[in-house]
Amino acid sequence: AGDELFRRTAQAKRVLGDRVMILGHNYQRDEVIEHADFRGDSLLLSKLAAERSERPYVVFCGVHFMAETADILSRSNQTVILPDMAAGCSMADMAAIEQVDQCWETLGRILPVEETVMPAVYVNSAAVLKAFCGEHGGITCTSSNARAVIEWCWARREKILFFPDEHLGRNTANKMGLPREQMIVWDPYQPNGGNSREAIKRAKLILWKGHCSVHQMFQPVHVDNFRKQYPDGKVIVHPECHEDVVNKADLSGSTEFIIKTVSAAPTGSIWAVGTELNLVNRLKRDMTDRKVFFLSSTVCQCATMFRIDGAHLCWAMENLADRHVVNHIVVPEDEKRWAKVALDRMMAIS
Ligand code: 13P
Ligand code: SF4
Repeated sequence: AGDELFRRTAQAKRVLGDRVMILGHNYQRDEVIEHADFRGDSLLLSKLAAERSERPYVVFCGVHFMAETADILSRSNQTVILPDMAAGCSMADMAAIEQVDQCWETLGRILPVEETVMPAVYVNSAAVLKAFCGEHGGITCTSSNARAVIEWCWARREKILFFPDEHLGRNTANKMGLPREQMIVWDPYQPNGGNSREAIKRAKLILWKGHCSVHQMFQPVHVDNFRKQYPDGKVIVHPECHEDVVNKADLSGSTEFIIKTVSAAPTGSIWAVGTELNLVNRLKRDMTDRKVFFLSSTVCQCATMFRIDGAHLCWAMENLADRHVVNHIVVPEDEKRWAKVALDRMMAIS
């Protein structure tokens, strides 16, 4: 069945020729990624979506927020397709616009929020949250430019409201040397986010209480166990992991950074990789002259990324070849306008 699906998808792709571009995130399954014209991390794929606008159709093999970003950055006549509409992101769902509005309003009762707080949203978020940032002078970020974005924010305002991932914000600020007492966590289910007015006034970084359910499964003990077994080995993790894991690792960075670093490492080197399983399995298979291990002893797989499979891709491609668009991702115009402002600010410094 796999070969048959491969053949059918490849045939639809041939029929469509230059009219289609398939983008594949680094976490996608082998059976999907093998059809991708380009693969990469969130930033690279966003850039490609913006630059390769001459292709009228983009089939985005990734999750919903990535396809939305592609639609926001694409030309108006470009159509973005997500092969399975149920491919969401649990972290993106951890911040709703009503909660962010409420947080902003609460902060506004404590300090002059528009002048002192810069909103920065991780691209792992709904378009409406990107629009919120655009409208309030803020910016988006990805795991590969979080530091530059945080610097950009602090150059303009005293504080940052960083959402929805607590860990990417904290790990980046840790590397920049921000003292712990200047970081607070905003729990949208608590009054004042669970903080005193004094703590809010003192904070330079307000971190939304959100996380990735996949990366939270990596534990410091996994690093300890690996180091015991391979004292010369190196540990590389994604910055969505908890700080206790990132602080013990040798390196941390985006999925593209992880792939590039391990690929460029010396022959014979030994690596434990703390990110999604599909990526690590591919690295293991491709890097035959160095040893690559999955950092955790349990399976850490992104169930929503995994929803895009060969059958969904084939279905979307065959329909397209028949001039029928399925699963069209359309960001409403009002959201698109402001979300693009926030994304453009990020692109300008990336
Ligand atoms: P990257 O931008 O590093 O590819 O990460 C996206 C993501 O969802 C990680 O969980
Ligand atoms: Fe979202 Fe985590 Fe999956 Fe990345 S790995 S898409 S952050 S749930």
